[in-house]
Parts: sequence; C-alpha cells; structure tokens
Amino acid sequence: MAQDQVKPGGPDLTQGLSLGELADGDKLLGHVGDEEVLLVRRGAEIFAVGAHCTHYHGPLADGLVVGDTVRCPWHHACFDLRTGEAVRAPAFDPLACWSVEKREGRIFVRSKRAAPQSMTPGERASPAPQKIVIVGGGAAGFAAAEMLRRRQYKGSIVMLSADTASPVDRPNLSKDYLAGSAPEDWVPLRPDSYFPDSGIELRLGANVTAIDAASRDVTLADGSRIPCDRLLLATGAEPVRLSLPGIDQPHVCTLRSLADSRAIIEHARTARRAVVLGASFIGLEVAAALRARGIEVHVVAPEKLPMERVLGPQMGEFIRALHQEHGVIFHLEDVANAIVEREVRLRSGTTLQADLVVVGVGVRPRTSLAEKAGLKIDRGVAVDAYLETSAPGIFAAGDIARWPDPHSGESIRVEHWVVAERQGQTAALNMLGFREKFTAVPFFWSQHYDVPINYVGHAEKWDELTIEGDIAGKDCLLRFKRDGRVLAAASIFRDIANLQAELAMETDRQS
Ligand SMILES: Cc1cc2nc3c(=O)[nH]c(=O)nc-3n(C[C@H](O)[C@H](O)[C@H](O)COP(=O)(O)OP(=O)(O)OC[C@H]3O[C@@H](n4cnc5c(N)ncnc54)[C@H](O)[C@@H]3O)c2cc1C
Ligand code: FES
Repeated sequence: MAQDQVKPGGPDLTQGLSLGELADGDKLLGHVGDEEVLLVRRGAEIFAVGAHCTHYHGPLADGLVVGDTVRCPWHHACFDLRTGEAVRAPAFDPLACWSVEKREGRIFVRSKRAAPQSMTPGERASPAPQKIVIVGGGAAGFAAAEMLRRRQYKGSIVMLSADTASPVDRPNLSKDYLAGSAPEDWVPLRPDSYFPDSGIELRLGANVTAIDAASRDVTLADGSRIPCDRLLLATGAEPVRLSLPGIDQPHVCTLRSLADSRAIIEHARTARRAVVLGASFIGLEVAAALRARGIEVHVVAPEKLPMERVLGPQMGEFIRALHQEHGVIFHLEDVANAIVEREVRLRSGTTLQADLVVVGVGVRPRTSLAEKAGLKIDRGVAVDAYLETSAPGIFAAGDIARWPDPHSGESIRVEHWVVAERQGQTAALNMLGFREKFTAVPFFWSQHYDVPINYVGHAEKWDELTIEGDIAGKDCLLRFKRDGRVLAAASIFRDIANLQAELAMETDRQS
C-alpha cells in the first residue's frame, strides 16, 4: 500500500537524549531529518529502526517489543531490531536501521546503516535442491519464492500460477480497492520486474493439471512437463458456487482474484442495487465496499447473526448493527432460491431487485492435484509440522494445508492471509533443507468501514467467552476459552492486548 506522508514526530534524535529518558524495555518515537525513527532499549543495547511497518505503514511505536524484535500492532508483522529484517509476514521489506552512539550518558542516533544481508537460520539437515517448482501465485507461493531468494538460494525457482495477474494483495480486493479508495497500483505484491530481477520464473495463466508424487514432475494444461527436486503446492481455495437457477448470469459474481474484483467494480459503475449472498467476512467486506460506492446493498444469509459462529453472538450483533448504521439491509435466516434476470427470489417469498449479485458463501480448498497424485488428504492436504505432505519433497502451504497446530493440539486448516504467507516462508526454509516446524499462532484481520477486527488463535468451539471493554464502543478484547484455556482472542482497537494474547498463546502449547 502507498504510504501516507507523515510529519515526523518526537524529538530530533541526532541532537541526543539522556539515557535516563529511555528505561530498559522502553521504546520512544523520534525523528532523524524527515524520517520517523523508533528507539528501543534492551538492557545495554539501543536500537534505532524505521518507525513504520513496511506492510501497510502501521505505527511500530504502538507495537510490542519481544526480545530483540518488534511486532506491528495492525497485522502482527515482526521485525528484527538488530538487522531490520521482516522476520514474519505480512511484511517482507526490512526496516531501515540507524547506528546509535552512547556518549556521556546520552544517546545519539547517527547515520543510516546499509541494508542487511540475509541470514541463514541454522544448519541444514540436507543440501539445497537444484530446482524448485511452486504451484500457485498467491500468498503462500509468493512468500515462499521471496524467502528462497532472501535466504540466498541460487537454484531455479519456477512459479506456476493459473491467475493472469502476478501475485496480488488479495485482502485488498474486498476492501479499499473494491471500495474505490485504493488505486490498482497498490494491489500487486511486487512490480512485475521483481520476478525476472530476482531470478523467479513466474508463468501466469499456467494451469497445472497433474503432479507425479514419485518423480515430482509437474504437468501443465498444454501437456508440457517440468521436473523438480522440491515442489510446493499452494493452490489456495476457490469460491463455493451455489447451484441456483440463474447463477450463471453475467451480473452474478464471486470474488477471489483481481479479475473478479475488477468485474465487480465494472458492474458497480452502473448498479443501483446489489444483493450479497452470504454474511461472512468476504460478503460483509463486499457489502461495505459497495456502500462506499453509494449502492443500495441487501445481504441475504441463513444464519441468525453475521459471523456468530467465529466471533460469538455479541460481536455478531455489533457487526450487524454496524452494517445497518451504514445502510446495509439484512435478510437473515433466509436464502436465495433463484435469480431471475434482475430479481433475486428468496425462500421467504421476498423478491429483491439486483443489478449486481455477489456470492460470498465460503470457499473450498483446491486439493484436486494432491488428490489425483495420491497424497494424504484430510479435509485439505495433510502436512506434518514441517509442512511436508505424505510424499517426500512435496510441501503444501496456505488455504489447502491442514497442519498439526501445537496451540490447539488439533490438526487445523484455516483461510488466513498471514498464515498462508508464514507457511510459505516455513515451507521455503524446509525445501532448502532446514528443519523448521510451523508453530505460528494463526492470525487474521477483517475490516468493516473504519472498524478493524483482529483475531489471533483458533477456536472452532468454546465453552466460555469473556469480554473486556465495550464492543459497541469499538474498544474491546474477547477471549474464547475451552476448559479455562484461551484458544483465541478477538479485538477492536486493542492492538497491544491482541499482540500480548498472541505472545501468551505462543508459550501455551498442547503439543
Ligand atoms: C477478497 C478476499 C479478501 C480476503 N481478506 C482477507 C483478510 O482480510 N484477512 C485474512 O486473513 N485473509 C483474507 N483473505 C483470505 C486470504 O486471501 C487467503 O487465506 C490467502 O490468499 C490464501 O493464500 P494461498 O496462497 O493459500 O492461496 P491464494 O492466495 O488463493 O493463491 C492460490 C494460487 O494458486 C493458483 N492455482 C490454483 N490452482 C492452480 C493450478 N491447478 N495450477 C496453477 N495455479 C493454480 C491460483 O491461481 C493462485 O495464484 C481474503 C481472501 C479474499 C478472496
Ligand atoms: S501494517 Fe504492519 S503488519 Fe500490516
């Protein structure tokens, strides 16, 4: 995303400040010239790094310092304070680092240091492969390719994507971009030139039709075959398609790709009324984006309250009220029976006029390649703690992967951007022969108008829900517990508490 022009805040750090003004563990926002700089003290060491997250520019002064790292309050990216490296997605670019001088009880921030060289995480268990193929050009596939090059992998990387666009910031497709408040050049994760410049052979419109689990050969729709030493499956998920009369009409859309988002925007240019089928994250983000475009929006869904299953009834009630305040008209405990030209007919007998219909009723993991290849399937592609499938040398990451989650003690599969990216990063390291378990606590965010909801952990079922603060006042932290253990936490504008909940869950493992 583009960065806002920020007037630098805090003291001029080149002029020095007293050591006593920065207690051990404290952080302080200041500036050097026009750039905002975060100063952090850890014992005798003082770090000076860029004050804004390289993902969406989140304010790191409001983040959490953990050891020699700082975590972003918005979407939990994590940066090494020593090197500036973005050690956890969703950020990829490092923070700038400045050298710090301590003299006569004062701290002075001096010149900017050279960008860090990439580091290796430890000893390899096996030599690096010659050729890696990544199937999928989404969150997990991109993060894997980026990490391979960041770790100085010199071999070949071929990235095959059925999409026609190079990897995009998919969460934006239902938020600012769809609402018309972000230009399209915010959407690519990297400019097109990044891929050839990084030696990543990105093939777009490349549909993989088969993989051979023994030889790891990949077959494309045109019949060509690509051999490789290591293979990453990161094929994501596809929207569930309803079997409904009228569903195939051009004004009935789903949303997964940039092309889908563009198609909705095109219809929205002339639409006066839209019907959204589904009241979960995608459906409601689309509803918010269409309201921002001044379109009348009706949301139809079978549940009593939106998002109750994931966030509980109180948050569900809040989300419904929030959308109603913005003019969304709900038709809950109802479903569409048919779409007849510009009418959506509901089971209740209601008929809604719609120039645009967006179907957001969930997704299905794209597991067919893995299934056909005989890989172990368990409501997704089953992987071990290293994200390796049942076929040695073949890894899976992102929406398709079901992995042993050490926090819940269960095998889980989620559809979260940050999880997919972090899994791509871990899979990359393991394809290079490092042995890194995937242990990240799941995290997702969702944005409704000006209200962000951050969720950390994973609670499919809970027996206790505690609420701190005030949901209606948009200042709250909800904890989802089972047998007294916190499985997940959701918050609105309590970012530091959400980061602290993540940290607590990292140390509270079931396996
Ligand atoms: C509109 C939208 C908004 C979202 N917002 C959020 C959010 O706010 N927060 C959040 O946490 N999550 C969000 N998500 C979910 C998040 O985007 C996904 O969890 C994430 O993209 C999954 O990453 P992935 O790499 O597994 O799959 P994807 O990003 O879907 O990538 C899959 C890739 O595989 C390719 N592919 C599939 N099959 C083949 C094949 N046979 N051959 C070649 N290529 C193939 C596809 O073309 C695509 O490039 C959102 C999703 C959508 C659609
Ligand atoms: S802005 Fe920092 S993680 Fe998104």
